[in-house]
Amino acid sequence: MDVHEAIMSRRSVRKFLPKAVPMGSLRRIIEGAGMAPSGHNIQPWKVYAVAGEVKDAVSASILKAIAEDPPEAHEPEFDYYPTEWFEPYIARRRATGFGLYAALGIAREDKQARIDQMNRNYVFFDAPVGMFITFDRRLATGAFMDMGMFIENLMIGARGEGLHTCGQAAFNWYHKAIRPHLPMEDEEQFACGLAIGYEDPDAPENAFRTEKLPIDTYTTFLGFA
Ligand SMILES: Cc1cc2nc3c(=O)[nH]c(=O)nc-3n(C[C@H](O)[C@H](O)[C@H](O)COP(=O)(O)O)c2cc1C
Repeated sequence: MDVHEAIMSRRSVRKFLPKAVPMGSLRRIIEGAGMAPSGHNIQPWKVYAVAGEVKDAVSASILKAIAEDPPEAHEPEFDYYPTEWFEPYIARRRATGFGLYAALGIAREDKQARIDQMNRNYVFFDAPVGMFITFDRRLATGAFMDMGMFIENLMIGARGEGLHTCGQAAFNWYHKAIRPHLPMEDEEQFACGLAIGYEDPDAPENAFRTEKLPIDTYTTFLGFA
Protein backbone atom coordinates (compact mmCIF):
# COMPACT_ATOMS: atom_id res chain seq x y z
CA MET A 1 0.00 0.00 0.00
CA ASP A 2 1.48 3.39 -0.92
CA VAL A 3 1.24 6.29 1.49
CA HIS A 4 -1.60 8.05 -0.34
CA GLU A 5 -3.63 4.86 -0.43
CA ALA A 6 -3.01 4.29 3.27
CA ILE A 7 -4.14 7.84 4.06
CA MET A 8 -7.17 7.72 1.78
CA SER A 9 -8.33 4.38 3.17
CA ARG A 10 -8.12 5.42 6.82
CA ARG A 11 -11.45 5.98 8.47
CA SER A 12 -12.90 5.36 11.87
CA VAL A 13 -14.04 1.76 12.20
CA ARG A 14 -16.50 1.02 15.00
CA LYS A 15 -16.88 -2.74 14.84
CA PHE A 16 -13.97 -5.15 14.70
CA LEU A 17 -13.64 -8.87 14.05
CA PRO A 18 -12.55 -11.13 16.93
CA LYS A 19 -9.26 -11.81 15.15
CA ALA A 20 -5.97 -11.33 16.99
CA VAL A 21 -3.52 -8.67 15.86
CA PRO A 22 -0.02 -10.15 15.36
CA MET A 23 2.52 -8.74 17.82
CA GLY A 24 4.88 -8.07 14.87
CA SER A 25 2.27 -5.79 13.25
CA LEU A 26 1.61 -4.02 16.50
CA ARG A 27 5.28 -3.37 17.16
CA ARG A 28 5.85 -2.11 13.57
CA ILE A 29 2.91 0.28 13.90
CA ILE A 30 4.09 1.69 17.24
CA GLU A 31 7.72 1.88 16.10
CA GLY A 32 6.56 3.76 12.99
CA ALA A 33 4.50 6.14 15.11
CA GLY A 34 7.61 6.89 17.14
CA MET A 35 9.26 8.27 13.99
CA ALA A 36 6.84 11.21 14.17
CA PRO A 37 8.44 14.64 14.32
CA SER A 38 8.11 16.64 17.53
CA GLY A 39 9.29 20.11 18.52
CA HIS A 40 12.92 19.79 19.74
CA ASN A 41 12.46 16.03 19.27
CA ILE A 42 10.96 15.80 22.75
CA GLN A 43 8.90 12.70 21.77
CA PRO A 44 6.35 13.25 24.54
CA TRP A 45 4.25 10.15 23.83
CA LYS A 46 3.76 6.94 25.73
CA VAL A 47 1.62 4.02 24.64
CA TYR A 48 -0.13 1.37 26.71
CA ALA A 49 -1.36 -1.40 24.43
CA VAL A 50 -3.91 -3.64 26.14
CA ALA A 51 -5.45 -6.96 25.15
CA GLY A 52 -7.10 -9.96 26.78
CA GLU A 53 -7.76 -9.82 30.51
CA VAL A 54 -6.18 -6.40 30.99
CA LYS A 55 -8.34 -4.85 28.28
CA ASP A 56 -11.44 -6.52 29.72
CA ALA A 57 -10.61 -5.30 33.23
CA VAL A 58 -10.25 -1.69 32.00
CA SER A 59 -13.59 -1.93 30.19
CA ALA A 60 -15.25 -3.38 33.30
CA SER A 61 -13.91 -0.56 35.51
CA ILE A 62 -15.21 2.12 33.14
CA LEU A 63 -18.64 0.54 32.75
CA LYS A 64 -18.84 0.18 36.53
CA ALA A 65 -17.98 3.87 36.96
CA ILE A 66 -20.65 4.81 34.41
CA ALA A 67 -23.25 2.72 36.21
CA GLU A 68 -22.37 3.89 39.73
CA ASP A 69 -21.41 7.54 39.46
CA PRO A 70 -23.33 10.56 38.21
CA PRO A 71 -22.03 11.84 34.83
CA GLU A 72 -20.50 14.97 36.41
CA ALA A 73 -18.16 12.76 38.47
CA HIS A 74 -16.18 12.19 35.25
CA GLU A 75 -14.21 14.99 33.69
CA PRO A 76 -11.42 14.88 31.11
CA GLU A 77 -8.12 16.48 32.08
CA PHE A 78 -8.27 18.89 29.13
CA ASP A 79 -11.02 20.19 26.86
CA TYR A 80 -10.87 18.49 23.50
CA TYR A 81 -14.08 20.20 22.44
CA PRO A 82 -15.29 23.78 22.99
CA THR A 83 -17.99 24.28 25.63
CA GLU A 84 -19.91 26.51 23.17
CA TRP A 85 -20.07 25.17 19.60
CA PHE A 86 -20.43 27.55 16.64
CA GLU A 87 -20.63 27.32 12.86
CA PRO A 88 -19.36 25.79 10.67
CA TYR A 89 -18.47 23.18 13.30
CA ILE A 90 -22.00 22.65 14.60
CA ALA A 91 -23.15 21.50 11.16
CA ARG A 92 -20.15 19.24 10.55
CA ARG A 93 -20.44 17.66 13.97
CA ARG A 94 -24.16 17.11 13.57
CA ALA A 95 -23.75 15.53 10.12
CA THR A 96 -21.23 13.09 11.56
CA GLY A 97 -23.42 12.10 14.51
CA PHE A 98 -26.60 11.79 12.44
CA GLY A 99 -24.77 9.83 9.74
CA LEU A 100 -23.47 7.27 12.20
CA TYR A 101 -26.81 6.81 13.94
CA ALA A 102 -28.63 6.60 10.60
CA ALA A 103 -26.23 3.85 9.47
CA LEU A 104 -27.09 1.99 12.67
CA GLY A 105 -30.82 2.60 12.30
CA ILE A 106 -30.93 4.52 15.59
CA ALA A 107 -33.72 7.11 15.65
CA ARG A 108 -32.88 10.65 16.80
CA GLU A 109 -35.22 10.40 19.79
CA ASP A 110 -33.93 6.99 20.90
CA LYS A 111 -31.71 8.31 23.66
CA GLN A 112 -31.00 4.90 25.21
CA ALA A 113 -29.80 3.43 21.90
CA ARG A 114 -27.47 6.41 21.49
CA ILE A 115 -26.10 5.93 25.00
CA ASP A 116 -25.61 2.22 24.33
CA GLN A 117 -23.73 3.02 21.12
CA MET A 118 -21.62 5.61 22.99
CA ASN A 119 -20.77 2.97 25.58
CA ARG A 120 -19.48 0.67 22.84
CA ASN A 121 -16.45 2.93 22.98
CA TYR A 122 -15.56 1.40 26.33
CA VAL A 123 -15.23 -2.11 24.90
CA PHE A 124 -13.10 -0.67 22.07
CA PHE A 125 -15.88 -1.51 19.60
CA ASP A 126 -14.89 -5.19 20.13
CA ALA A 127 -11.34 -4.61 18.86
CA PRO A 128 -8.86 -7.22 20.13
CA VAL A 129 -6.36 -4.49 21.01
CA GLY A 130 -6.83 -1.15 22.67
CA MET A 131 -4.28 1.58 23.15
CA PHE A 132 -4.02 4.44 25.57
CA ILE A 133 -1.76 7.21 24.41
CA THR A 134 -0.50 9.52 27.13
CA PHE A 135 1.82 12.48 27.52
CA ASP A 136 3.21 14.72 30.22
CA ARG A 137 0.61 17.26 31.33
CA ARG A 138 3.34 19.76 32.28
CA LEU A 139 4.20 20.35 28.62
CA ALA A 140 2.79 23.27 26.62
CA THR A 141 0.16 23.42 23.86
CA GLY A 142 2.72 22.46 21.19
CA ALA A 143 2.88 18.96 22.64
CA PHE A 144 -0.69 18.43 21.43
CA MET A 145 0.62 18.82 17.86
CA ASP A 146 3.35 16.28 18.54
CA MET A 147 0.75 13.90 19.94
CA GLY A 148 -1.49 14.39 16.90
CA MET A 149 1.33 13.43 14.57
CA PHE A 150 2.14 10.37 16.63
CA ILE A 151 -1.49 9.26 16.75
CA GLU A 152 -2.01 9.80 13.02
CA ASN A 153 1.11 7.71 12.40
CA LEU A 154 -0.47 4.92 14.44
CA MET A 155 -3.61 5.12 12.31
CA ILE A 156 -1.79 5.20 8.97
CA GLY A 157 0.71 2.55 10.07
CA ALA A 158 -2.23 0.32 10.98
CA ARG A 159 -3.53 0.62 7.41
CA GLY A 160 -0.16 -0.65 6.16
CA GLU A 161 -0.72 -3.79 8.24
CA GLY A 162 -4.25 -4.30 6.89
CA LEU A 163 -5.72 -3.00 10.15
CA HIS A 164 -8.19 -0.25 10.98
CA THR A 165 -8.51 2.07 13.96
CA CYS A 166 -10.81 4.44 15.77
CA GLY A 167 -9.47 7.33 17.82
CA GLN A 168 -11.28 7.46 21.16
CA ALA A 169 -11.35 10.68 23.14
CA ALA A 170 -14.31 9.08 24.95
CA PHE A 171 -11.82 7.41 27.29
CA ASN A 172 -10.53 10.75 28.54
CA TRP A 173 -13.59 11.18 30.75
CA TYR A 174 -12.72 7.97 32.60
CA HIS A 175 -9.01 8.48 33.26
CA LYS A 176 -9.52 7.82 36.96
CA ALA A 177 -11.01 4.39 36.24
CA ILE A 178 -8.31 3.48 33.70
CA ARG A 179 -5.24 4.74 35.53
CA PRO A 180 -5.07 1.99 38.20
CA HIS A 181 -4.72 -0.61 35.45
CA LEU A 182 -1.67 1.01 33.86
CA PRO A 183 1.85 1.66 35.21
CA MET A 184 1.51 5.41 34.63
CA GLU A 185 3.54 8.23 36.15
CA ASP A 186 1.59 10.89 38.05
CA GLU A 187 2.44 13.51 35.39
CA GLU A 188 0.94 11.54 32.52
CA GLN A 189 -2.42 12.47 31.05
CA PHE A 190 -4.40 10.70 28.38
CA ALA A 191 -4.34 12.14 24.86
CA CYS A 192 -6.90 9.56 23.74
CA GLY A 193 -7.59 5.87 23.39
CA LEU A 194 -7.41 3.92 20.16
CA ALA A 195 -9.22 0.79 19.03
CA ILE A 196 -7.20 -1.29 16.60
CA GLY A 197 -8.00 -4.48 14.74
CA TYR A 198 -9.51 -5.99 11.62
CA GLU A 199 -12.67 -4.34 10.33
CA ASP A 200 -15.96 -6.23 10.43
CA PRO A 201 -16.99 -5.48 6.83
CA ASP A 202 -20.61 -6.51 7.43
CA ALA A 203 -21.28 -4.15 10.35
CA PRO A 204 -23.65 -1.30 9.43
CA GLU A 205 -21.65 1.24 11.45
CA ASN A 206 -18.66 0.55 9.22
CA ALA A 207 -20.64 1.45 6.10
CA PHE A 208 -20.83 5.05 7.30
CA ARG A 209 -18.52 7.49 5.50
CA THR A 210 -17.84 10.99 6.76
CA GLU A 211 -17.79 13.86 4.30
CA LYS A 212 -14.45 15.53 3.71
CA LEU A 213 -14.06 19.10 2.54
CA PRO A 214 -12.81 19.66 -1.01
CA ILE A 215 -9.17 20.77 -1.02
CA ASP A 216 -9.93 24.26 -2.34
CA THR A 217 -12.21 25.10 0.57
CA TYR A 218 -9.28 24.98 2.99
CA THR A 219 -6.25 25.71 0.79
CA THR A 220 -5.00 28.97 -0.73
CA PHE A 221 -2.22 28.67 -3.26
CA LEU A 222 -0.23 31.89 -3.55
CA GLY A 223 2.66 32.80 -5.83
CA PHE A 224 2.37 29.83 -8.17
CA ALA A 225 2.95 30.32 -11.90
C1 LIG B 1 -8.42 12.26 18.76
C2 LIG B 1 -9.70 11.67 18.28
C3 LIG B 1 -10.63 11.21 19.17
C4 LIG B 1 -11.81 10.60 18.73
N1 LIG B 1 -12.69 10.10 19.65
C5 LIG B 1 -13.71 9.35 19.23
C6 LIG B 1 -14.51 8.65 20.17
O1 LIG B 1 -14.32 8.75 21.38
N2 LIG B 1 -15.49 7.84 19.71
C7 LIG B 1 -15.74 7.69 18.36
O2 LIG B 1 -16.64 6.94 18.00
N3 LIG B 1 -15.01 8.36 17.44
C8 LIG B 1 -13.98 9.15 17.84
N4 LIG B 1 -13.18 9.79 16.93
C9 LIG B 1 -13.43 9.59 15.49
C10 LIG B 1 -14.01 10.82 14.81
O3 LIG B 1 -15.38 10.91 15.09
C11 LIG B 1 -13.73 10.68 13.32
O4 LIG B 1 -12.35 10.76 13.09
C12 LIG B 1 -14.43 11.74 12.47
O5 LIG B 1 -15.81 11.64 12.57
C13 LIG B 1 -14.00 11.65 11.01
O6 LIG B 1 -14.31 10.37 10.50
P1 LIG B 1 -13.20 9.43 9.89
O7 LIG B 1 -12.19 9.14 10.97
O8 LIG B 1 -13.93 8.19 9.47
O9 LIG B 1 -12.53 10.16 8.76
C14 LIG B 1 -12.05 10.46 17.34
C15 LIG B 1 -11.12 10.97 16.43
C16 LIG B 1 -9.97 11.56 16.88
C17 LIG B 1 -8.97 12.08 15.88
